[in-house]
Amino acid sequence: MEETTAQKKKFMIRVRNLRKEYRLKDDTVVALKRINLDIEQGEICCIFGTSGSGKSTLLNQLAGLEKPTFGDVYIRGVPVTRLSERELAEFRQKHIGFVFQSYNLLPFMNAAENVAVPLMFRGVGKRERMKKAKAILKKVGLINRLTHYPKQMSGGQQQRVGIARAFVAHPDVVFADEPTGNLDSKTTIEVMEMIKNFARRFDQTIVLVTHDPELAKYADRIVTLVDGRIVSDTKNDTVRGEANEQAI
Ligand SMILES: Nc1ncnc2c1ncn2[C@@H]1O[C@H](COP(=O)(O)OP(=O)(O)O)[C@@H](O)[C@H]1O
Ligand SMILES: [Mg+2]
Repeated sequence: MEETTAQKKKFMIRVRNLRKEYRLKDDTVVALKRINLDIEQGEICCIFGTSGSGKSTLLNQLAGLEKPTFGDVYIRGVPVTRLSERELAEFRQKHIGFVFQSYNLLPFMNAAENVAVPLMFRGVGKRERMKKAKAILKKVGLINRLTHYPKQMSGGQQQRVGIARAFVAHPDVVFADEPTGNLDSKTTIEVMEMIKNFARRFDQTIVLVTHDPELAKYADRIVTLVDGRIVSDTKNDTVRGEANEQAI
């Protein structure tokens, strides 16, 4: 039964009473209000909402990129909101991957070198890094683009490199903020299926931030934000993108 499996799973991410205020000159924006959220290991959780609803702010607090005004975030039981910058950097390198809307590839590195970066942080030797980078680039269909630089690739190709980089070191959690925001609809489907297939294969947790209902369909669960609050939290019964699970 679905529930029994759920009970056996552990929570990968726990959020307690999270609040985030941005102090401006003579104004305070409350971007997140009393957010409580538990995300299981292996869950693909979509944070859904219109522009300005607080999605990116929430993701930034979850990933420890910003400190909340109040409340805590735990990943694997570690209070990321209480770690020093140094501890956080180390924690991210070990446990977290990112996929960005703007790809964020290093312009002076080719595809294989970009993908190998997270392995370098983990102390993997150069030969092994390049071997792993090539293997995963092959899986995302870019075996003939290994030595291409970001500006020599299309948006879809760059994002496939971005996905390979996010997953190459098998992090526990991958955060993706509007990962297909700059892609056409066909490429969007390819990219989402890749993210999903990788995550399923290694029981990884995905936090997917989007304003696009089409993307939300790939998630197991959809958490909707309005004005910095969770207004609904639903299981997705008709999860899209499972058919190709054997593909990767
Ligand atoms: N660095 C910041 N300084 C001030 N206000 C901010 C900052 N970042 C976000 N905000 C405000 O917080 C709210 C939520 O923003 P954001 O999380 O970026 O929304 P979303 O990602 O859902 O579009 C918005 O009202 C936005 O203007
Ligand atoms: Mg945003």
